Amino acid sequence: MRKPFIAGNWKMNTDSAGAVALAAGLAKELSSVDTVDVAVCPPFVYLQSVAAALSASNVALGSQNVYFEEKGAFTGEISCAMLKDTSCAYAIIGHSERRHVMGETDAMINKKISAAISGGLLPIFCVGELLEDRQGGTTNEVVASQIKNGLEGICAESVQAVTVAYEPVWAIGTGLTATPEQAQEVHAMIRGLLTELYGNEIAQAIRIQYGGSAKPSNTAELMAQPDVDGLLVGGASLKVEDFAAMIKTIA
Ligand code: PGA
Repeated sequence: MRKPFIAGNWKMNTDSAGAVALAAGLAKELSSVDTVDVAVCPPFVYLQSVAAALSASNVALGSQNVYFEEKGAFTGEISCAMLKDTSCAYAIIGHSERRHVMGETDAMINKKISAAISGGLLPIFCVGELLEDRQGGTTNEVVASQIKNGLEGICAESVQAVTVAYEPVWAIGTGLTATPEQAQEVHAMIRGLLTELYGNEIAQAIRIQYGGSAKPSNTAELMAQPDVDGLLVGGASLKVEDFAAMIKTIA
């Protein structure tokens, strides 16, 4: 009942010509896929040209970040309205690189989720534990606290706009993937928590993506888990053939 949702997070990669070529290649490869929702999240500066390359396709556009204020003296930041203006449907919020490299806090992430929903963007809300958390046995506590703090004050109606992305930080860009069982365990915990917060019907409808070295060869086993509803893909989303292969595996 949950339609699979695969998003590509291009991070700080590509250039102007490469971004358009990647988008155009995906638009062509995926033209007959309608059983999977697909989005790509290029760097801000290429959103408009990628939007043009995707205009007649079934691939949606997302941003990698968004700021929570509407406008004004916030040098270097980008608002929801600006992203809507470039045809973004989604915004990745709280990615681990924003949390751990740029110092974003749960409180900032919560404001961003709230602003995105009010501004008509669909948040891809990222959570995930560090290696030391996993080794110390606190994965569930860490992730549960990120979920509760990130969704603080977000009502049942609003939360339906959210996709959760569980990305164990130790698996991102490292080639180490969580086993399907490790992913399922945390996804089930997240869905249980969403049930406590919002009730069963809403929790069953919210999609939870896995992210962290997802690639063509592990797509089927990850997606076979009952609570894994999609993937947030970094490295493997930068090649048309790999990303398209993952989506076709699911479709
Ligand atoms: P990766 O990145 O697929 O390169 O591990 C995933 C992510 O950070 O979203």
